[in-house]
Amino acid sequence: MYPYLRNRRLRANESIRRLVRETVITPDDFLVPLFVVEGKGVKEEIPSMPDYYRLSLDELEKEVKQLWNMGLCAVLLFVKVADNLKDNKGKEALNPNGLMQRAIKTVKNVCPDMLVMTDVALDPYSSFGHDGIVKDGRVLNDETSEILAEMSVSHAQAGADFVAPSDMMDGRILMIREALENEGFTDTGIMSYSAKYASAFYGPFRDALDSAPVDAKDIPKDKKTYQMDPANRFEAIKETLMDIDEGADIVMVKPGLCYLDIVREIRNEVDGPVAVYQVSGEYAMLKAAAEKGWLDHDTVMLEQLTAIKRAGANIIASYFAKDAVKLLG
Ligand code: PBG
Repeated sequence: MYPYLRNRRLRANESIRRLVRETVITPDDFLVPLFVVEGKGVKEEIPSMPDYYRLSLDELEKEVKQLWNMGLCAVLLFVKVADNLKDNKGKEALNPNGLMQRAIKTVKNVCPDMLVMTDVALDPYSSFGHDGIVKDGRVLNDETSEILAEMSVSHAQAGADFVAPSDMMDGRILMIREALENEGFTDTGIMSYSAKYASAFYGPFRDALDSAPVDAKDIPKDKKTYQMDPANRFEAIKETLMDIDEGADIVMVKPGLCYLDIVREIRNEVDGPVAVYQVSGEYAMLKAAAEKGWLDHDTVMLEQLTAIKRAGANIIASYFAKDAVKLLG
């Protein structure tokens, strides 16, 4: 057949490349994670996440308006909780006037159409930095899930569109769904972190929220008894299908880049939307390499985001959302 078939014809110039491009990033792909703190006029840069900030509610308001004007339509909220409000059961998480509940109202007030998703897990509220209640060196499953269900109802009451449980307890999606139904929140959705790995890429996020597991006697040093072993593949599918059965509307794989094989398998298995979280460590790596002049920030960023979408992501939670959308013009 040579030389009649030449694949390079379809790569000859930018116009033909545009015409045959299979994967295109748009603002609609993104879920923007935001870190919220108490105070006024606070916009503090997170040391291990250059150009990413913790925002007080007034700054959150400005940020959300800006995101909306750029064409971004969904945010994922996280809060940094003061040490004196932390305890083993994350009691503050249920405070109807807590920072998360006020943050939800702030976003909805300034931008009613912005989709608000909220992180549901105990770690920012836990004095031990765990996603659940700790007892005798273990993280309790069912007792934790009950609190997560109450927390979800509290977020729904404040106006959240979707709750996003990131804790990896067994059975919590069902408990959350039932609690939401019982309280009449039939339209509040659940985005489940369904295949969340025990990854070292979450380091900068834990700096941002001061939420790392504490180093103390009888406190598990890591999250390996609930988050998944990075070595496992079948388990990711099992976890995801179970969460869908329990009532998850959107499922998620996390982290992103190292787990794109998992993303593709899950995309092939399920009918509903699949989200991917490009996590803090992935963000930090590129920022650091770009700062040193070793990688071209914008090109590598778009290549990574394209790879995540090509692997099968329908939604990308990413700290690069704004940077990317600016480039897309
Ligand atoms: C909390 C939570 C974490 C992340 C999202 N939700 C941290 C963790 O599980 O320790 C990580 C996000 C990131 O690294 O960007 N359960």
